[in-house]
Amino acid sequence: MSVIHLFVCNAQKTEVGKDVARALKIELKKQDLKSVVRKGEKHKTRVQTCSCLDQCKHCKKGSGAALVIYPEGIWYGDVKPKDAADIVREHLGENHPVKRLLLDEI
Ligand code: FES
Repeated sequence: MSVIHLFVCNAQKTEVGKDVARALKIELKKQDLKSVVRKGEKHKTRVQTCSCLDQCKHCKKGSGAALVIYPEGIWYGDVKPKDAADIVREHLGENHPVKRLLLDEI
């Protein structure tokens, strides 16, 4: 089984990334999306905090965190814990990005 990784930067002074990661894990469980099916194949979903993702203007200075989802390579910025439900439902459940949080210049 392959894995969809959600890497959340936790290099802000506030360490809000830790709270975002925690909220994502709670939502994955609540929405029953600890695994998803893509193109007929089952993928486990995994949330991890990490250090700087080099998107600091969308992370370090704001009150939210940068995060990237692989293997798609979709980037989100200024993600707050309250955004976790939308990311899990729309990105993982409905398989489309959450437009309002997308970092589209990458
Ligand atoms: S501090 Fe989060 S991306 Fe650099």
